[in-house]
Amino acid sequence: MNLSVKIGALTLQNPVTVASGTFGYGVEYSPLLDLNQLGAVVVKGIRLDPVRGNPTPRTAEVTSGLLNAIGLQGPGVDGFIRKYWPFLKTLKVPTIINIWGTTIEEYAEVARRFDALGGVGALELNVSCPNIKAGGSQFGTDLKLLSQVVTACRKVTKLPLITKMSPNVVSIVPYAQAAEAAGSDALSIMNSFPAMAIDIATRRPRLANVTGGLTGPCIKPIALKLVWEAAKAVRIPIIGMGGIQTATDAIEFLVAGATAVAVGTANFYEPQTTFQVLAGLQEYMERHRMTDVRELTGSLRVGS
Ligand SMILES: Cc1cc2nc3c(=O)[nH]c(=O)nc-3n(C[C@H](O)[C@H](O)[C@H](O)COP(=O)(O)O)c2cc1C
Repeated sequence: MNLSVKIGALTLQNPVTVASGTFGYGVEYSPLLDLNQLGAVVVKGIRLDPVRGNPTPRTAEVTSGLLNAIGLQGPGVDGFIRKYWPFLKTLKVPTIINIWGTTIEEYAEVARRFDALGGVGALELNVSCPNIKAGGSQFGTDLKLLSQVVTACRKVTKLPLITKMSPNVVSIVPYAQAAEAAGSDALSIMNSFPAMAIDIATRRPRLANVTGGLTGPCIKPIALKLVWEAAKAVRIPIIGMGGIQTATDAIEFLVAGATAVAVGTANFYEPQTTFQVLAGLQEYMERHRMTDVRELTGSLRVGS
């Protein structure tokens, strides 16, 4: 049975990865599971300098989901390389580094630094953050900025570039096409959905930041639709994510058009989710006499 898939020039031994920000820097989960069984390890977003993040509370449980406003806390490029890279580089599976910036130049500088590091599997561009030079406009919801940021990173690195799409757009199609045209090797779909929750006892927002990103099972149908729409519009592979808890969820994403999947919020309450997904995927393939996981990608039967 072939489980391996390609994300640009990067080969993953299987299509099951983790979603940035839900798996720390890998090392935190290493006592709980053998990271070398994953398709890839994807780390929390890194920008050039360290970031303290938002005040607490930063998370709130909602019906079938999680709200978070962590504020992209992180150690910065140097801190990451010093603290986490020595562990990550010993893994047999690739590390995908999620990067972000507040200007196009910053994204490019972070991409250049990780290109120079050597041994990185791929870079995932988190474009769901504001550009301080464009009045706070989010890169991922502005076609011109999205194209500029991917182009700028493409110029400084040959590493596979994965653009992580924002769901906060009317149609994902032009954004997916813009990322592809600017040189992205793959797309991750999707990032969290902007949302909020209120405690009626205090009439205060449940997050100190008032609003945050919604993730978990409640966003899965939205993510599936976006994957399906984008897959029809681009030729580059898609990593599908949003509420995956089971093999059934993951298979839905593959059938909708994803080449690989990422488990996010589920890692917080069941760190073995990725393995359960992988085992269930293999069982499904055996039951359906499939020998190659790529047969599933985009196999949705629409119409009669
Ligand atoms: C606590 C938390 C932190 C996150 N941090 C990042 C991040 O740093 N960069 C990023 O691109 N996405 C981040 N995400 C979004 C996830 O990678 C993923 O796109 C989203 O959670 C949807 O998947 P899920 O429903 O399986 O969690 C974060 C999500 C959560 C819940």
